[in-house]
Amino acid sequence: MRRTPAFRAWAATPGGMEFDNFRCRREALFAVATRTPRFRHIDRSHPVQGLRMPGAGASPHLSTLPAPQRRTATCTLFPQLRASALLRCSGAAGSAGWPARGLDWFQSLYWVRMKLFLDTANLDELRAAARWGIVDGVTTNPTLIAKEGIPREEQIAAICEIVAGPVSAEVIAVEAKAMITEGRALARVHKNVVVKLPLTRDGIEACSALSGEGVRVNVTLCFSPAQALLAAKAGAYFISPFVGRLDDIGATGMDLVRQIVAIYENFDFETQVLAASLRGALHVVEAALAGAHIGTLPFKVLDSLFNHPLTDKGLEQFLKDYNKVFATT
Ligand code: E4P
Repeated sequence: MRRTPAFRAWAATPGGMEFDNFRCRREALFAVATRTPRFRHIDRSHPVQGLRMPGAGASPHLSTLPAPQRRTATCTLFPQLRASALLRCSGAAGSAGWPARGLDWFQSLYWVRMKLFLDTANLDELRAAARWGIVDGVTTNPTLIAKEGIPREEQIAAICEIVAGPVSAEVIAVEAKAMITEGRALARVHKNVVVKLPLTRDGIEACSALSGEGVRVNVTLCFSPAQALLAAKAGAYFISPFVGRLDDIGATGMDLVRQIVAIYENFDFETQVLAASLRGALHVVEAALAGAHIGTLPFKVLDSLFNHPLTDKGLEQFLKDYNKVFATT
């Protein structure tokens, strides 16, 4: 992903993160999001914790600054919090102000909250899971699309009608030029489509080109941290490390997720880590502990997350006790 003008205003420095000449207004300040667990769930109304401004006292809030200073404030975030302030610039989208892609995109990067995607192209599974209200997006691959037997574009469009979130659609081409053409066409199917490209030389070339055009790319078939570094450099929106397939060959797939998360955090790459090829509940929990931004799960695995014998037993007992006293039969 290419950095937008707004992102260029954000510079990591040894002493913390500084934003210069950030033109923001009180009402435009949304929150502070941070990658430390303590602050992960800060909501929009939270005060600006950890945000320090020169000459503005101990724990200032942007709104406490006089207007002129507000417009040109240099903000330094406490380095130990590894925090990022979500500031909405005044000014026109795409110019000196707000990134053209809008608030959702911006928030999706810095609003750190694990997302769950469904790894399927099956509409029935998607409808069932969508009813639970916990599905944030979808991943597909050529195998999953082929299983449904419907032309890819048609199936992707139908998926986008069910789930309101990123939907990964994978290219079939293997040469960069053809991947770019196919990627552009897939991106036109629906605004939520994320183009999925394999982690090959051609795939990375196509990723650089498409990301530069503002097309979101999910780089897939990632099996090493070095590959993940290349994807981030090429501006990938998601990187998909395949945990289960590494386990299949006797490696510890989750180590890869941990390494990628650490590398990306070292350098503040915006690429989101999408733990893929998750085969069971333990994988999902470990991916969450590792700090993966997203886990993509087959329906069967998502469904299994609900299960606990003590939940069943407890519910049975509650109903039994209640009905002993209040049953109408
Ligand atoms: C997702 O993007 C991948 O295509 C998927 O998770 C692969 O899973 P598998 O290794 O179980 O086929």
